Amino acid sequence: MTKFEHLQEYLNNNQKTWLVTGVAGFIGSNLLEKLLILNQKVVGLDSFDTGYQHNIDQALQDVQNTTGKDLSNNFNFINGDIRNSSDCNQACDGVDYVLHQAALGSVPRSIEDPLGTNEANIDGFINMLVASRDAKVKRFVYAASSSSYGDNTDLPKIEHIIGNPLSPYAVTKLVNELYASVFAKNYDFKTIGLRYFNIFGKRQDPNGAYAAVIPKWVASVLNNEDVYINGDGETSRDFCYIDNAVQSNILAAMTENNEAIDQVYNVALNDRTSLNELYRMIEDKIMQRVKGLEKKEPIYRDFRPGDVRHSQASVDKAHKLLEYRPKYKISEGLDEAIDWYINSVK
Ligand SMILES: NC(=O)c1ccc[n+]([C@@H]2O[C@H](COP(=O)([O-])OP(=O)(O)OC[C@H]3O[C@@H](n4cnc5c(N)ncnc54)[C@H](O)[C@@H]3O)[C@@H](O)[C@H]2O)c1
Repeated sequence: MTKFEHLQEYLNNNQKTWLVTGVAGFIGSNLLEKLLILNQKVVGLDSFDTGYQHNIDQALQDVQNTTGKDLSNNFNFINGDIRNSSDCNQACDGVDYVLHQAALGSVPRSIEDPLGTNEANIDGFINMLVASRDAKVKRFVYAASSSSYGDNTDLPKIEHIIGNPLSPYAVTKLVNELYASVFAKNYDFKTIGLRYFNIFGKRQDPNGAYAAVIPKWVASVLNNEDVYINGDGETSRDFCYIDNAVQSNILAAMTENNEAIDQVYNVALNDRTSLNELYRMIEDKIMQRVKGLEKKEPIYRDFRPGDVRHSQASVDKAHKLLEYRPKYKISEGLDEAIDWYINSVK
């Protein structure tokens, strides 16, 4: 049995209270779904800046489909803002574990609106740290980012070797790590940061100017629309399916290994896929499932400012200290995600 399987069994029989910030977003709503399935109590905080009520509704519906039970009574939603400290205090009250996901994502958004990104991602983050510290939560797990590697070109990325940030978004995520570490040193407070590497899966928003590449391309192919590739398509990423990220959050919150606490971890696969390869995989998988679509060549355009060229993570640290065992490779994750989008994207 893996550590994660043990923990799921333990949680099923021991109900705890979790706060998921950003619960109406992609990662937050998947955390909500998993925790409710594990018979946990969940408080969710969201301002709907980039999240949606329908993500919460679908998560609750998926819980019912999986368990056969309506577990929505175990969920308490607060429509609030992490930039407001009293909302953070209210959300942290009586909570055992915090999974802090709320932030404004996207490198291009941060280049267009550095102030807005700073307010949500730094002011909001420190509000959540203070509220969690004051509520004496057992663990503060937060969404960090692969963007913290900045201009460092070494591959694979190893947690303690980083470069200079390339965007305001990357600055905010690095500052989160610095604040978390300072809180751990100065207060009796336990944190773990998870540097997500291009997480994808169900409920990731395919729409809008700042959509991530996988949902955007899946929606474009399904709608017979042109697909644009920024640069020559040889830019590569370590794409990681959402279930692996959910696993990492639960392992980080529950680990009793003292060495594992007050650390940051890569959450990825230690794999690398170019955008050209990704496009072919998405197109082939959709063509196998949906008849009558036209095969199209992608349209190449300029590189995007602030983007790193290649990204691939070492996951040795998470493997060793958290016993992280990612279950889904990119192709299996894409199968799951594409099946979901086919049923959801209109
Ligand atoms: N998806 C990825 O590949 C990825 C990669 C690296 C880091 N991250 C980080 O993971 C976290 C979750 O990302 P996601 O992909 O689910 O994005 P998302 O936009 O789907 O979810 C973020 C959620 O936070 C909420 N939010 C934003 N500002 C808020 C505020 N001021 N107060 C309360 N709620 C607020 C949004 O409404 C949204 O529901 C973010 O911190 C993001 O920076 C994601």
